Amino acid sequence: MSFKLDSVVPWGRNLDEYRTMFMLDDADMKKKIAGFGDGPASFNCEATRMGCSVISFDPIYIFTREQLRERINEVRAIVMKQMAENVDNYVWTKIKSLDELEHVRMSATEQFLEDYDFGRREGRYIPYELPEKLPYDENTFDIGLSSHFLLMYMSLGYDFHIAAMTEMLRVYREISVFPIVDLDGKESSMANDVISYFEKSHIVEVRKTQYEFQKSENMMLTIKNRA
Ligand SMILES: C[S@@+](CC[C@H](N)C(=O)[O-])C[C@H]1O[C@@H](n2cnc3c(N)ncnc32)[C@H](O)[C@@H]1O
Repeated sequence: MSFKLDSVVPWGRNLDEYRTMFMLDDADMKKKIAGFGDGPASFNCEATRMGCSVISFDPIYIFTREQLRERINEVRAIVMKQMAENVDNYVWTKIKSLDELEHVRMSATEQFLEDYDFGRREGRYIPYELPEKLPYDENTFDIGLSSHFLLMYMSLGYDFHIAAMTEMLRVYREISVFPIVDLDGKESSMANDVISYFEKSHIVEVRKTQYEFQKSENMMLTIKNRA
């Protein structure tokens, strides 16, 4: 794994945002869940505190807590400046202002950092880069999630997304990806092609969720293995 820290923009969402994006109800929260590309999200930490079983996979987990904290401090002002320049691209109903956004994101990141060393020792934060082979057997776990990674980064290409989601579906009975738009919030032909590919062999559903921060990012893709 040759992931470079200066190529990373650690910026994480929280449990409430994950539950809304992926429509995770109480029954789902009792299942074995993994987040792929969770980065510094507080989903794992907060869900673990509730007694849930969550593993997070991300290449940034090769770095130490101090390295991640330093990088978060470096990018914080840059990200906030970009947000300020693009306020019209976002829906300010749940999060009402830039100040609130910074508070929500930094609070998630701080909870992640507090939990990181303990979580790594417990095997909850695993350094891993899709689409590497996961060290688990077929259908071992229940739900694999990808928030703001798969289907967003078009430059990774169609083959990357097919390989990544195929490997997730080997180990997880179902996977969900949110959102289904690219980094500019636009529908992409690549996402449509990926959906068509899995429709041939899997149960595929696209659903509207209550989560919308970047405009148009309110659709979730779920792909299930056939029994
Ligand atoms: C925009 S962040 C999303 C963080 C978190 N999921 C959230 O929604 O708050 C994208 C994450 O994908 C991770 N990532 C990049 N390449 C990856 C790969 N090949 N496999 C898994 N995760 C990757 C990055 O390190 C980063 O943490």
